[in-house]
Amino acid sequence: MKGTAGGKLILCGEHAVVYGHPAIAIPVDMHTTVEYEPRQGALVVEHDLWSPRDEDRLDEALSKLFPDGGAHLKIESDLPIGVGLGSSAALSVAVARAMGATTDDDIAAKAMEMERVFHGDPSGLDVAVAMKGETLWFIKGKPIRTIPSPPCAIVAIDSGTSGDTAQMVQRVKDGGAAAEEIIDDIGALVHAARGVIEDPRLLGELLSENHRHLRKLGVSTPTLDQIVDLCLAAKAYGAKLSGSGGGGVVLALVDDPEPVLRSAEAAGFEGWTVRSRD
Ligand code: MEV
Repeated sequence: MKGTAGGKLILCGEHAVVYGHPAIAIPVDMHTTVEYEPRQGALVVEHDLWSPRDEDRLDEALSKLFPDGGAHLKIESDLPIGVGLGSSAALSVAVARAMGATTDDDIAAKAMEMERVFHGDPSGLDVAVAMKGETLWFIKGKPIRTIPSPPCAIVAIDSGTSGDTAQMVQRVKDGGAAAEEIIDDIGALVHAARGVIEDPRLLGELLSENHRHLRKLGVSTPTLDQIVDLCLAAKAYGAKLSGSGGGGVVLALVDDPEPVLRSAEAAGFEGWTVRSRD
């Protein structure tokens, strides 16, 4: 049996979503497919995605769903791993679907078992987008709502290093009262972003402001800041880190992806158009 699921980008609200604020996330046009065949004996996994360092975590995550082995899994993906594009959630949802899960509750329950191995105690946002493949208004523990997508192209630029989600979430937790205040500001910003989701110019300004909040929370890096500046100089409507930070990607809302992608490439960064204009 086969299961497929796509990646995501958090448009705004990462970290604040852990504290019960809303976040907006969009699906990206990159996917993971898992083929599952029952077999006698140990679990066999075929893939060319993970480095040996991460392979242990992959095995541990899969063993949550296949504690007694009994499966041959073939994983194929065009999603870059560990850069904030939701590769582990796409994998987890694709595995759940390949196992025959069809209802949202069953897919989410199985996928979250794997996600907890990858990320500690994730909010479930990545799994929700991988499952739905639509732009979502997400509040932890509440029913998921679909909302319109921004009517412009979106690019993601890779900073070249990976952040560790559990570590970044802990860093925010350690930030105390100052961090709480910033988290509340991000929550308010996400509500404002929803109101202007169909106006790239106003939305872009809010996303750039969201990046400044994330920088104050201590989850940006000099490279992520450099990429945000580079995107804005190349006439993006707005740019911010997306995901847990500490590395990973910057997203930029753009009218035309080319100038931003060219400017990123000239500075040595790989980038992708993750959504074309709708
Ligand atoms: C990670 O993709 C997003 C965070 O908000 C953590 C989470 O939602 O679990 C940083």
